Amino acid sequence: MSLLVKGGIVVGATGTQPADVLVEGEKIVAVLDPAYSQTVQADELIDATGKYVIPGGIDAHTHMELPFGGTAASDTFETGTRAAAWGGTTTIIDFAVQRTGEVVQDGLAAWHAKADGNCHIDYAFHMILGGVDDDALKAMDQLVADEGITSFKLFMAYPGVFYSDDGQILRAMQTARENGAMIMMHAENGIAIDVLVQQALARGETDPIYHGITRPAALEAEATNRAISLAEVARDCPLYIVHLSASQALEHVAVARDNGRNVFAETCPQYLYLTLEDQLGAPGFEGAKWVCSTPLRSKHEPHAKDLWKGLRSNDLAIVSTDHCPFCMKDQKELGRGDFSKIPNGIGGVEHRVDLIYQGVVDGQLSLERWVETIATTPARMFGLYPQKGVIQPGSDADLVVYDPNGTTRISAETHHMNMDHSAYEGFEISGRVDKVISRGSVIVADGNYHGRKGHGRYLRRGLSSYLV
Ligand code: URP
Ligand code: ZN
Ligand code: ZN
Repeated sequence: MSLLVKGGIVVGATGTQPADVLVEGEKIVAVLDPAYSQTVQADELIDATGKYVIPGGIDAHTHMELPFGGTAASDTFETGTRAAAWGGTTTIIDFAVQRTGEVVQDGLAAWHAKADGNCHIDYAFHMILGGVDDDALKAMDQLVADEGITSFKLFMAYPGVFYSDDGQILRAMQTARENGAMIMMHAENGIAIDVLVQQALARGETDPIYHGITRPAALEAEATNRAISLAEVARDCPLYIVHLSASQALEHVAVARDNGRNVFAETCPQYLYLTLEDQLGAPGFEGAKWVCSTPLRSKHEPHAKDLWKGLRSNDLAIVSTDHCPFCMKDQKELGRGDFSKIPNGIGGVEHRVDLIYQGVVDGQLSLERWVETIATTPARMFGLYPQKGVIQPGSDADLVVYDPNGTTRISAETHHMNMDHSAYEGFEISGRVDKVISRGSVIVADGNYHGRKGHGRYLRRGLSSYLV
């Protein structure tokens, strides 16, 4: 079965050109100058005239079905990957979980059981290590060697849940330095945050906004700097800071990168568009919708402006969503009267491609940088390149036809995520996902869904392309 995507403007990380994309089966076989593709025959033709053709989005940070905060993230692998597909994302990297006292491989097996046969798009896993000990360190080697899992997330936050102390972090980093894996860090000083949380609650400060106030930027910056120092001690172990939200944390990443260190970072759309005052501080309990960690930052400080700048300068390499949805009903409501009991997380896997395209429209990013931050760099960072993240012969035919003349209105009434609200309710995007192709199959076309659960395959990943 062949497919010709014809008449579009192909946008890649390194340039933009009118080109036709020929697909055979699941693979791209040619990227053709339109002047020379007149004679090419294909079983199916997609007219992309006036539209961009980009590599399918890769969301490198999702939490489908994550048990967390006394409940579980409301998107299953089935609903979450379907929603991702609607929004132009054709690969996710989700986080399998090992908790303290659990065998790492058991945690991984549990994640495979959740995802296997249920995904609409291709998927891979990082591994959360919630209990770094001798066995977990051995398991890291085994996962890198045999399971295609080459990145491990540690937490400097959430004491008693996923928290690792500095000694555990250092040992995991030393192991990663040896086996080539990437350490992903949730960088917030959780011990200090817990003190601030208890003090706030004792003062009767229970509304959702206090979630943000008790997680100040200084404690994200401190933890980021500490993680960078620990990685340096571990002979420059590769380090990737997840969901970076604060200018001060970004400054530490920028300094490390200027010094040639193996330090990388991602941010998320919520930190580019949403704020402590306008969302987390919404009247009554509404702000619970936006309780996530790291938290939304103040609009009176230059965080969002600095994050866009960081994306331009590559101090921020990737935009992921940290998709971790919870409904208001029965989930976020667990924290009525006590913000510390609100499950932490925002859902957005469906909207990342659009929200970052809006950055192009607003003059924040170039077209090429849009593609680089949502698809190409995630593939290279996490060992999926060139199978994913690029439009070139031999790569998987994961393509999005994106209409710059379309519009997208975000609403809980129309989104496909399993959430009873939207963090971006009412947002208007000056662009629209027109068609989505996953490994040669058209799964979204003109507002209709043609995908199916079970189409998505598990991807074994290699080491990051960025390491020195
Ligand atoms: O609030 C968040 N980010 N929830 C998901 C878990 C994590 O820390 O990434
Ligand atoms: Zn985290
Ligand atoms: Zn996360």
